[in-house]
This record gives sequence, C-alpha cells and structure tokens, in this order.
Amino acid sequence: MNKSIKPTVWRLRTGADRRIRGGHPWTFSNELAESPKGHTPGAPVVLLDAKGGFLASGYGNPHSLIAFRALSFKSQEQEVCETEYLQRQLVKTWWQRHRLGFKSSFRWCYGEGDFLPGLVIDRYLVHQNGQMGQVFAVQILTAGMSAILQEPTSFFENLVQEIKEKNLSDFSWEQTAVVLRNDVQVRRLEGLEIEAPRVLKTIEGMNLSEIDIEIKNQVLMTTDLIEGQKTGFFLDQAHNISLLCDQLKTMEFPEGIVRVLDLCCYVGQWSTQITHVLQARGLKVEVTAVDVSDHALSFAAKNIERQGAVVNIRNLDVLKDLGSLPDRYFDVVIADPPAFIKAKKDVPTGRHAYLKLNTSAFKMVRKGGLVASCSCSGLFEEAEMIDVIRKAISRGENEARCIQHGGHSADHPVLLAFREGFYLKMFVHHVL
Ligand SMILES: C[S@@+](CC[C@H](N)C(=O)[O-])C[C@H]1O[C@@H](n2cnc3c(N)ncnc32)[C@H](O)[C@@H]1O
Repeated sequence: MNKSIKPTVWRLRTGADRRIRGGHPWTFSNELAESPKGHTPGAPVVLLDAKGGFLASGYGNPHSLIAFRALSFKSQEQEVCETEYLQRQLVKTWWQRHRLGFKSSFRWCYGEGDFLPGLVIDRYLVHQNGQMGQVFAVQILTAGMSAILQEPTSFFENLVQEIKEKNLSDFSWEQTAVVLRNDVQVRRLEGLEIEAPRVLKTIEGMNLSEIDIEIKNQVLMTTDLIEGQKTGFFLDQAHNISLLCDQLKTMEFPEGIVRVLDLCCYVGQWSTQITHVLQARGLKVEVTAVDVSDHALSFAAKNIERQGAVVNIRNLDVLKDLGSLPDRYFDVVIADPPAFIKAKKDVPTGRHAYLKLNTSAFKMVRKGGLVASCSCSGLFEEAEMIDVIRKAISRGENEARCIQHGGHSADHPVLLAFREGFYLKMFVHHVL
C-alpha cells in the first residue's frame, strides 16, 4: 500500500548498532541519531549506521518506544513495505510450515519470528455440516503493518489464489473466511485502537462462532473463531501436548482408569488429546476441567466428551478455589494459566501466582502421576520458573523428577537474536 512512499532514511547513533547487526529487529527511539518526530506512523524507513552503512529496511513509528522494526536485513530488499513483498513473504511462511508437515491448523505467521513484525495469522482447517474450509484469524499489531495491510480482504483473496496455484492448499476463496482480531492491548503502544473482532469474509453456511477446527492427530475441537480467546484457540501448545501424550502412550495405569485435572482448560485441548490417546489403549478417562470462563467450559465439555471421557466441569478460580478439589487424587494434572506477568512490574505478584498454582497442582497429584506446569509469560525467565516449581514440589513434600521440558510448536519459529520470541515454557514432572 505504501507503493508511492519513498523510505525515509534514519541513522543510528554511534555504537547503537550492535543489537540490530546481530539480527534483532528492533531499534529504540533513543538509539537514533535524530528525533523521528514528524515521521508518519508506520511509514517505510531505511536504517543506516552512524557512518551511513546499510543496516535494515522496515517501518518506523515516532510514537512508539520501539521506533523502528526491521522486515529485512538485505540491502537489495528495500521495498519491504509493499503488499507484493508481504504476499511473497506469506507464501514463503506457508511453504515453510507445509515442509514441516503442518497441513491442518497452524500458525501461518508469527511476527518477528517470520521477519514480519506486527503480524500474526493463525490458519484453521474447519469442518461443519459435512463441509470443509479454512479460516484466517489475523492480528495486526503495529502501525507499520496496518499501513501495509490497508485492504486485507482483497489482499487475502489474491493470496488464497496464489497458495492454491502453488498446491499448498486446496481451498478456494469461497471456502475461506477471514477474521480480523485487532482486539489486542499491545495495539495501544503503537497508537492504534483496540477494535472488536470483525469477520471480513465468511464461508456461506458456516457458523464461525461454534465451529470444529482440525488439529494434530486429526482431532476435532469445537471453538469460537470470532470471540474466542487469543485467535480462538491456543495452537502454541500442540508440541507440549504431544510431549505429554507420548509419555501417556506407554505409561502404566494398573487400575485401568486415568483421572485428569485440566486447570485453566479453555476449550479442553489437553484433556481432549489425552483422552484420545488413552481411549485408544482401552483405558477409562475421567476429566475434571477447570476454568473461569463458562463460554470456554461449555466447549470443553463437548470436546472432551466427544473423545469418550467422563467430564466434570468446574467453574473455579485456580488461585482461590482449588481447596474444593480432592488432594492426591489425579493421575495427570495440567496447570496452563493465563500470562500472570504482562509487564515487568507484575513479576513479584506473578511469581507468587505461579507458585500458588503449582503448589496446588503438586498437592492434588497421586503418587506415580504427572504434573505439566506451563507459563506463557515472556517476562518470566525460565530459571525463575524452575525455581518456582522446585519450591512448589518441596512445599508438598513430594519427590519429583522432571521428565519433559517443552516450548512452543514449530509453527511458532523464533529467531535466536530475538529472545522476546520465546515465551512459552513447560515442564512435566513425575511424582513419586
Ligand atoms: C493460557 S489459556 C489456557 C489454554 C488452554 N490450556 C489450552 O491449551 O487451550 C488460560 C485459560 O485460563 C482461564 N483463566 C484465567 N484466569 C483464571 C483463573 N484465575 N482461574 C481459572 N481459569 C482462569 C482463561 O479463561 C483461559 O481459558
């Protein structure tokens, strides 16, 4: 969309180029040689070092602490704020997922991790009434990406055609829906408004507010792709769920029944996948699914029951009400809370919340059982999380061994130069 806009040249102060030379895509306003004042938010920028050497191409926002975000570090790629460039990059990210084996629902674009800061897209493979289709849930998080993607509907229509021509997907535009999920707080930091979810394009005859998405192992999960949390689902946990399920494929349950406690279950993907694996082994599964959202719990009940488990739905606050659940009763406990730490100032209270939740989790697991502890707070360092889990284990006088250590799935690629991209952590403990 910025076709006619020539990039503005910005220079860095002497010595401020180390991070960006290392491949980190951000520059802060105090690292610039001159004030960016007057620059149109989101307009293209070519970033140079103090001596005038090329560093990166991207876009700038004078109203954001992160003044510049790089889309490319290659000097020959300077027209990076045009829709044609974005289209090429998104074909590439889809192809990359395809090569890794992601064919159903997957994160198609993960912002900085895909050299496309400010853009997150989840692609859902959907089923309804014997019909199939694909839904793109799109989050535009920066002024720069908002300037590039000014006409998202026609942009995605062209892209669907190209992706089909390249045999990356069979679906036509008629079988595609696009939902804009700009209901995200971080937009404020860029001077953008928080908008209500918007369906830009729907699929005739499909109800996106209650629809089956196909995830790993061809499992179907009903969720709300318009108003649901995040983009409607938490695709990032697929890898961690697989790690836990791998264990459950061989683990012994002499009583023939497995009791699962799914804390902060949302629509129940952990329990649904666990039930899928255990039912295939002929084991009975009983799930207690806990969340504070009735909307999420109604989907969780449906999803878990569909796999054949007996479900006990509990609307409880995991930081206040877990005393009502029995101690030393569950064979598998999952603790996957919301991000308790959203800003640096939340670290002490957030750490305390993680400790409280994990202490409860280790109190409720039986001997021989497993506890999966998760954190999606990027600002909660892994070392801190390890310390919290260690304390939770010793408080319950448990003997426990860490048997799995996870993170987000491969459809959430991370640049090693961009540590901020690593946010999801998971540890599985075997309690004796
Ligand atoms: C990170 S999501 C969990 C995702 C889910 N485990 C999955 O893999 O799909 C956090 C969930 O915790 C719920 N939640 C938030 N605060 C809670 C609380 N204090 N007690 C219980 N659930 C809570 C939210 O409604 C949301 O469903």
